[in-house]
Amino acid sequence: MKLAPSLLACDFTRLGEELRSIQGADWAHVDVMDGQFVPNISFGLPILAAARRASGLYMDVHLMIDSPERYLRDFAEAGADGLTVHVEATRHIHRAVQMIRELGKHAGVTLNPGTPLEAVRPVLADVDTVLVMSVNPGFGGQKFLPQSLERVRTLRRWLDDLGSAATLQVDGGVSAANARALADAGATCLVAGSAVFGADGGAAGLERLSASLSGAARK
Ligand code: DX5
Ligand code: ZN
Repeated sequence: MKLAPSLLACDFTRLGEELRSIQGADWAHVDVMDGQFVPNISFGLPILAAARRASGLYMDVHLMIDSPERYLRDFAEAGADGLTVHVEATRHIHRAVQMIRELGKHAGVTLNPGTPLEAVRPVLADVDTVLVMSVNPGFGGQKFLPQSLERVRTLRRWLDDLGSAATLQVDGGVSAANARALADAGATCLVAGSAVFGADGGAAGLERLSASLSGAARK
């Protein structure tokens, strides 16, 4: 199981230190919001570039922006290792996935809780990551939507049927309270913002999340 703390919940005045506090993580999750696709604006290229300079962690960039094709090259050049696009944000999801691959980055696809899973099925064989949003994107600190578990199970089955080794990632309201159930449902990467940075610092938060997984089925 990979753990991907979301920088959205960290203290930006101490970005370098916050990144060091999670150096035991697998990925750093970078939430980019444009105020159009989602009703919030977070940060963009300069913050990704700063995070890249400050850390050797894999930068997992979640683009919550309309027509993400416009910015894939810029985010790749700013230091993304993986780029995940929303199926709702583009008319050409397959083309967007191809563009990411052509940039030499890992390609991810994601979908909102209200979008049928069928929307991502045609590109499952072409992606490195499938992200199940377990809240409506736009804000950290929201409550986990329990129906997401069944969505993870279904995607697990579809990926297995394809023989795909893609990362099955979950994002939104993930905490020590539901991490184990998500692992058992077949998730292989958990994103967590407030559960990692919210209470007593990144290292302790990461440790709690990791401890909650001990004994869970590993993929
Ligand atoms: C939500 C973002 C998430 C968010 C998760 O739109 O995509 O990555 O940072 O935050 P928590 O873990 O607090 O729900
Ligand atoms: Zn995210």
